[in-house]
Amino acid sequence: MAARKRVAILISGRGSNMRALIEAAQGTDFPAEIVLVVSSRADAGGLAIAKAAGIETAVVDQARFRRENRDRAAFDAEVDEVLRDARVEFVCLAGFMRILSDGFVRKWEGRIVNIHPSLLPAFRGLKPQAQALAAGVTTTGCTVHFVVPELDAGPTIAQAEVRVLPGDTEQSLSARILEAEHKLYPAALKQVLSKT
Ligand code: GRF
Repeated sequence: MAARKRVAILISGRGSNMRALIEAAQGTDFPAEIVLVVSSRADAGGLAIAKAAGIETAVVDQARFRRENRDRAAFDAEVDEVLRDARVEFVCLAGFMRILSDGFVRKWEGRIVNIHPSLLPAFRGLKPQAQALAAGVTTTGCTVHFVVPELDAGPTIAQAEVRVLPGDTEQSLSARILEAEHKLYPAALKQVLSKT
């Protein structure tokens, strides 16, 4: 197998997709090594999971940037520096609740992917599970896609469908989609890295 790609995961919260990627990368035939987890929040639950797995972590604290009146470009420059210091080759966004600047995205274009809990292009943006329920669709799901400057709009890598069941709430639907995400994200990352 070719050398494993050095992958970073960017998170802001609980990090269950991050955990799925870390577990997949522990397999011998997985084309990625997770070398770094970066969080935009110091209190992200995912940080402890990453540390317990022996993975280097960094916090680029969005609250600190806000307090110091530093803009999005300054935040993204610090993330970029942390990634470069760790010699990261590929980036996975996993519940990273920040919109990245065009400059950052262009720099990483083709080497940065995201997971979104809907079948894009349907239900872009926030609360896609609630959007799906409000629209009355019978099938929704999740999408792994390349990140481009426009939000939730990059080329699709892989999708998984999830049925909306009678009586579903935002919570129950989100939980079922999340289970599908945990299978889809590692498979999609493997697919992409096997081609690069
Ligand atoms: C997931 O539903 C993901 O698709 C969305 O944010 C959620 C993150 O969950 N972008 P987790 O932090 O991976 O548990």
